[in-house]
Amino acid sequence: MANEHKLQDIIAHCKEYGFVFQSSEIYDGLSAVYDYGQYGAELKRNIRDYWWRSMTQMHDNIVGIDAAIFMHPTVWKASGHVDNFSDPMIDNKDSKKRYRVDHLIEGFAETLDTDAAAALLAEMEALLAADNFTGLKQLIDDHKIKCAVSGTANWTDVRQFNLMFETEFGAVASDNPEDNKVYLRPETAQGIFVNFLNVQKSGRMKVPFGIAQTGKAFRNEIVARGFIFRMREFEQMEMQFFVRPGTQQQWYAYWKEARMKWHLSLGIAADRYRFHDHVKLAHYADAACDIEYDFPMGFKEVEGIHSRTDFDLKSHQEFSRKKMQYFDADLDENGKAFGNYIPYVVETSIGLDRTVMMVLSEAYELQDLSTEEKKDDRVVLKLPAFLAPVKLAVFPLTKKDGLPELAQELMNECRPHFKCFYEEKDAIGKRYRRQDAIGTPFCVTIDHQTKDDQTVTIRYRDSMEQERIHISEVKAKINKALQVLV
Ligand code: GAP
Repeated sequence: MANEHKLQDIIAHCKEYGFVFQSSEIYDGLSAVYDYGQYGAELKRNIRDYWWRSMTQMHDNIVGIDAAIFMHPTVWKASGHVDNFSDPMIDNKDSKKRYRVDHLIEGFAETLDTDAAAALLAEMEALLAADNFTGLKQLIDDHKIKCAVSGTANWTDVRQFNLMFETEFGAVASDNPEDNKVYLRPETAQGIFVNFLNVQKSGRMKVPFGIAQTGKAFRNEIVARGFIFRMREFEQMEMQFFVRPGTQQQWYAYWKEARMKWHLSLGIAADRYRFHDHVKLAHYADAACDIEYDFPMGFKEVEGIHSRTDFDLKSHQEFSRKKMQYFDADLDENGKAFGNYIPYVVETSIGLDRTVMMVLSEAYELQDLSTEEKKDDRVVLKLPAFLAPVKLAVFPLTKKDGLPELAQELMNECRPHFKCFYEEKDAIGKRYRRQDAIGTPFCVTIDHQTKDDQTVTIRYRDSMEQERIHISEVKAKINKALQVLV
């Protein structure tokens, strides 16, 4: 319950302080689509940049690309998305509400005792694995599972529903609408696969090497809930690592460890994460796991690490009839060149919006600061300094006596290096609280003493402690606090 409150509090806070808004809010919003406000956009960009640098700057053998959202429609046939990127759904005939079958049954299982729930979920898993839709419908009927909106058990049959958004390309009408059909990409990974040889050849890349990319992806999620956890338009940060066949397990283990290290570098404790190893693997994978974080709704996936074999490149070779082979001139233990092969791929795929939500959930704290004399509290976002939207707030104590001018001088010195914020309105205490609420790690106050001895008060967000330092130390002190990279 406390966690449910926390989620609601975070959503309200994000709106009040310019982090995340419902899309098209003045028109009552668009379901599961969100806009980032002035501070949310900065936070998101900082996370994206950190991921990008940790991939492309910290690894000599990883390069980044920026592929288009639109791709040739055959890409999605080759990738399996046209045929397989679907979920079994069921509609309630009275409320017209559509449910993902597994979510409907899981919701019902939560109302049962532990043994009954486990038995029901095991039965559901078996039916899902066998694509037995009649059996799933029967299971829903047998348990008289009801729609939360209409309260009835008046269900359609179970059907597959593809999650890709389609649109038409170009202005030329065609007798066959399929001719102009294009999809909004449901993952960024395929833009990497189809450019594998372009990058390998133009960059003279040697296996093992990786290609990284960040960008928008679109999925017509049926049950979109949990704020920015599950959206219809979202952003992914994906990296495909191309390796010699037979070495994929070793690289899979490497990336599992490396990615967890990255997560820990966000200042989040190890017990807030866990690995969830997939037991039932997708047909193309020979190992897969999720990194889960303990969100206010419980442990949920934030990143997937998948050993995808040579499935994607092989399939693109088949559909495009273009060779996807790499020539490996290195010698094996018998002194023979490894020669031509289609590389295997280990993928790391993390949702940017989910990472924003993770970082916000971790940072959000409502603190009771009451003393015997008076009641008091504050909301503080304990964001790591290098991710905070604003790094330094500069406050002249008063609007006169040359203090704003001194404050502006400090702003001018620091502005080229990191994001600063200037404010001269309201009492200093109020100004501090507003910065706490957006996660600004450092506030500097310029007062009359500054004019005499060039010292300022620096106030630390988390401890609320204050220190007197020389004004010339401010920039270096903050720059030092921003140096983090795995
Ligand atoms: N290329 C592999 C791939 O796309 P995925 O597990 O479907 O794998 C990877 O997605 C990550 O993308 C997830 O771990 C999650 O963080 C994010 N993601 C997926 N669907 C999402 C959605 N509807 N809203 C927000 N993030 C999503």
